[in-house]
Amino acid sequence: MRNSLAVATAVAILCASTTNALPGPIALTSRQTQPASPLADGLSYTVPPPPATGGSSAVWQAAFETARGLVEQMTLEEKVKMATGQPGPCIGNTLAVPRLGIPALCMSDGPAGVRPALGVTQFPAGVTTAATWDRELMYNRSLAMGQEFRDQGVHIAFGPVTGGPLGRAVLNGRTFEGFAADPYAAGEASYYAVKGIQDAGVIATAKHFIGYEQASRRRRSVSHMQRRARAPAGQLPYDSIIDDKTTHEMYLWPFADAVRAGVGAVMCSYNLVNGTHSCANSETINGLLKTELDYQGMVLSDYGSVWGTQAFAQGGLDISTPGDGLGGLFGKFFGNELLALVGNGTIDESRIQDQAIRVLTPYFALGQKDDPLPPPTQKVSTNYLIPSVNEYRNVQKGSTVDLIRRIGEEGAVLLKNTGGLPLQKPRRMLIVGEDAGYHRAAGDFGNGGPINTFALGFGSGYAIPNNLIDPLAAISMRALEDQTTIESVLNNTNIALISSLASQTDVAVVFSEALTGQGTERRDLNLARNGTEIILATAAQCSNTVVVLHLPGAANLEAFVDHPNITAILAPMLPGEQTGTSLVRLLYGDVNPSGKLPFTIGKSLSDYPPNTVVRDNVVRPTTEFTEKSLIDYRWFDAKNIEPRFEYGFGLSYSTFAYNKIWINETAAKDTLSLQATAERFSGQKAGESLYDVLFTVYAEIENSGKVFGCEVAQLYVEFPSVEGQPPRNMRGFDKVKHLEAGDKRTATFPIRRKDVSVWDTVLQMWRSPAEPQVVFHVGSSSRKLPLRLPYNLY
Ligand SMILES: *[C@@H]1O[C@H](CO)[C@@H](O)[C@H](O)[C@H]1NC(C)=O
Ligand SMILES: *[C@@H]1O[C@H](CO)[C@@H](O)[C@H](O)[C@H]1NC(C)=O
Ligand SMILES: *[C@@H]1O[C@H](CO)[C@@H](O)[C@H](O)[C@H]1NC(C)=O
Ligand SMILES: *[C@@H]1O[C@H](CO)[C@@H](O)[C@H](O)[C@H]1NC(C)=O
Ligand SMILES: *[C@@H]1O[C@H](CO)[C@@H](O)[C@H](O)[C@H]1NC(C)=O
Ligand SMILES: *[C@@H]1O[C@H](CO)[C@@H](O)[C@H](O)[C@H]1NC(C)=O
Ligand SMILES: *[C@@H]1O[C@H](CO)[C@@H](O)[C@H](O)[C@H]1NC(C)=O
Repeated sequence: MRNSLAVATAVAILCASTTNALPGPIALTSRQTQPASPLADGLSYTVPPPPATGGSSAVWQAAFETARGLVEQMTLEEKVKMATGQPGPCIGNTLAVPRLGIPALCMSDGPAGVRPALGVTQFPAGVTTAATWDRELMYNRSLAMGQEFRDQGVHIAFGPVTGGPLGRAVLNGRTFEGFAADPYAAGEASYYAVKGIQDAGVIATAKHFIGYEQASRRRRSVSHMQRRARAPAGQLPYDSIIDDKTTHEMYLWPFADAVRAGVGAVMCSYNLVNGTHSCANSETINGLLKTELDYQGMVLSDYGSVWGTQAFAQGGLDISTPGDGLGGLFGKFFGNELLALVGNGTIDESRIQDQAIRVLTPYFALGQKDDPLPPPTQKVSTNYLIPSVNEYRNVQKGSTVDLIRRIGEEGAVLLKNTGGLPLQKPRRMLIVGEDAGYHRAAGDFGNGGPINTFALGFGSGYAIPNNLIDPLAAISMRALEDQTTIESVLNNTNIALISSLASQTDVAVVFSEALTGQGTERRDLNLARNGTEIILATAAQCSNTVVVLHLPGAANLEAFVDHPNITAILAPMLPGEQTGTSLVRLLYGDVNPSGKLPFTIGKSLSDYPPNTVVRDNVVRPTTEFTEKSLIDYRWFDAKNIEPRFEYGFGLSYSTFAYNKIWINETAAKDTLSLQATAERFSGQKAGESLYDVLFTVYAEIENSGKVFGCEVAQLYVEFPSVEGQPPRNMRGFDKVKHLEAGDKRTATFPIRRKDVSVWDTVLQMWRSPAEPQVVFHVGSSSRKLPLRLPYNLY
């Protein structure tokens, strides 16, 4: 959330320092604080806040009662301060009320580990985690991450990224933080991500709500970006215009799953939705989130997304963060202004009461009162934008290192293999590319961009690695077993040396990446740092060239993908600090690749939906979601565009056959919702839920190759043509594990009512398709779907 360019000037860590200053202080003197928005002035809300219902599960009901009891003992001023971020040690802090035994709650980034902190794990990014298609690994990752937040004294973790962005814009600089460019897949991942963090006793934050599909032109203050882009004075964040059906069927969907997992915080986004700031948007917050999803926790703001007080409090924002923290850099809203608005009767005190209760309820619901956290290690000075780490406390566990190595293995996608992999005891191996190596250097704080190997995108989604094992180091260690000669050229401009060594080696492994982070869009889909040039230079001389790609999302591979000397392409994407160890096990065949793409790799930028990034230098940049639900593979399918590698694609060292498909009509009640939503559907009877399982589709998968492996089987639903839906919608995935050659195993796809429903804009609820027959397609990717089963829903 902080400005990524701001830290490009960061100073290096001082090794003997007692206060691990991370990174160097940046004075705020030249910066403005967030101004009030012309749109927020006296703006009235259209959807009133819902009554505080007090939790839809037993745990939350009890926590709500406790929070209410305490809030009733607070003064008005205390309640207002509870709704306003306070100065304190962390990036975000709530008010402490010692006389009531309420501590300050510490909030911190981010979606791939605690930031800023030392002694924590740099987890694989969301995109790599999604590519595992393994719900258990998704959960285990978040549980381990939650434990590190807890051990660093953080009550509220700013993650996971829950489909904001979902992946509408292929150039979006921060899609890697989230999971998959599909609401069902992002929803499943969000559910397990929230559950894992919260099972560790830390409040998760589903973000960014909603329609946040562009990383640039998102706020006015502290904005070098905007100066760079020569934006007009007073430019507002971009406005996402999204229709009701698309909102429900695409962008709200994963947030519903975060709510079902009991998420305690939701972060509203920088952008406007339909002309209203997202954090003052009563339609989205009071309407969609707090009424339709019956969300019981707090809505907190992104840093710089609050532009006023009255409209924001009434629009549904519960706590303005960082509020008075960080020296009030992001605007002096809420606080005294809110107090005055309640004092003169403009805002009812019941709203402030509800805000304070919503801020405190998750603290009790997650047991943080009974099992207090250690003091935070962060220490933010009000004079500095970028916080520093006050105390070195190493909380990484060996089991977490093993876990992230496994996620790196399971989330790597094998895109091409004509025999290059697995490696066969090469005598001589050449490693090419700056991306293969790593050294800690000034600037490696995830703000100014990574140095050398690209293991995680920069910005607030970055985490400082505890012990990053780079690919070159890991390969060098493994090569000892075969006495392989290892040579390397990590200088991407030394084409002459690359060429001469490539002509003499048995195998060359070339590393390349596409760099990205928050606050900015990718300029194009090209590889960074002359990646395509070093790949082509190597392949011109070496007939056994293996390419390894560290990617935040799609990239243009057309210049080399069909090159006959490129014998394999493997994409681990952003695997976190065990990048080298996980890679080595894949390269040598200790592990069989089983990751599949959670996005589509097209042949050119123009293959993707147009105009998804607004770059207009106008006061009110607007982006209309005219493609509606046709993002990523839905667009390619609907427009008959041949992708290079489709959504769901990924090879193995083995092969898999899809033998047969069948259905079992046994229904089952929803057992997964920890908090029920209030989403309605046509014909609903008492006790029925949108998430009840109507029936289950099964498919028999066979390992038809020669080696042990795992296969991610996928299910897509085709709706009757009258519904105007995309050709196919993903509605199931099952990672079928541990298949020996010749083994047959059943993939299971429970189909919930929502999975075969469409949003009806007239009824304002979900309903079955108007014609009964849907078709289920099962296969190995969104384009390879050998099994087909038509089915009458009614
Ligand atoms: C997740 O963690 C549990 C508990 O440590 C373990 O039993 C399980 O095997 C893990 N799952 C995966 C897929 O690694
Ligand atoms: C935004 O406006 C569109 C009409 O342009 C409407 O269909 C949709 O429901 C609105 N979204 C919200 C959240 O009110
Ligand atoms: C109430 O207080 C706010 C904040 O000071 C002020 O802007 C507003 O004009 C006041 N309204 C009335 C009706 O006094
Ligand atoms: C990289 O190679 C180029 C071309 O040979 C050379 O000019 C440059 O100095 C090298 N850079 C480093 C850091 O060695
Ligand atoms: C690519 O290499 C050339 C020299 O061969 C160099 O001038 C240029 O700056 C490089 N581009 C990048 C993005 O590194
Ligand atoms: C492939 O590599 C060989 C060297 O092993 C080289 O002679 C040949 O030209 C290369 N092929 C292409 C298409 O570059
Ligand atoms: C369907 O599933 C139920 C519950 O798992 C099981 O009891 C039943 O035997 C299955 N029916 C068929 C036809 O396989």
